[in-house]
Amino acid sequence: MSNQIIIAIDGYSSCGKSTLAKALAKELHFIYVDSGAMYRAVALYFLRNNINLNDHNEVVEALKNIHLNFHSRDYKTHITLNDEDVSSEIRQMPVSERVSSVAAIHEVRMEMVKQQQRMGKIKNIVMDGRDIGTTVFPTATVKIFMTADPKVRAERRYKELLPANPGITLEEVFENLAHRDYQDTTRAESPLRRAEDAIILDNTDLTPDEQLLFALSKVEPFLS
Ligand code: DC
Repeated sequence: MSNQIIIAIDGYSSCGKSTLAKALAKELHFIYVDSGAMYRAVALYFLRNNINLNDHNEVVEALKNIHLNFHSRDYKTHITLNDEDVSSEIRQMPVSERVSSVAAIHEVRMEMVKQQQRMGKIKNIVMDGRDIGTTVFPTATVKIFMTADPKVRAERRYKELLPANPGITLEEVFENLAHRDYQDTTRAESPLRRAEDAIILDNTDLTPDEQLLFALSKVEPFLS
């Protein structure tokens, strides 16, 4: 039996999943995989190449031309789309507005899940997303499901987005999050839901350090 550890972190948009996942990976020397960045990079490719999301063949052909990779640099994770670093561009509004529709496509999910499962075979990892504990790694060592007050989430995301998107409003961000939550939880394919064995972490009133300590206490029993 392998004693490899997989930590699956799922939850709504802007709940602090990536903050927690990165901190855990750093503390434990695990690999961090941001699965949302993969869907965002696919959405960016579709946007740039005018892919019709309703055209099955066009989507399948486009997926064959998409090569994604993660690299760590300056303590940050960078994602490349066909060797171009798109880490900043995938966070901008044109991608944020379309990514949930792209992530709802069966063929897109099949391909991403395949790649994510392959990454999980190599090392101890922390992966965050929407379906990690339910679909990608149903037997993950520790599963955490994150939630927080929607207003607090919108404020956090707004602060994050403002430098790269001057002119953006808090209302727009709130609407975008509400819309994405709706799409993510109601889509037919792998909707966002808590795995039965996932630990709930509501971080509305927690600092990043407090949530890290909470998560570490759940992982520690599995560290040898
Ligand atoms: O976590 P994020 O906001 O970067 O995710 C971007 C989108 O991708 C979000 O609308 C949900 C989707 N997603 C998904 O469907 N499954 C995942 N494992 C990760 C993200």
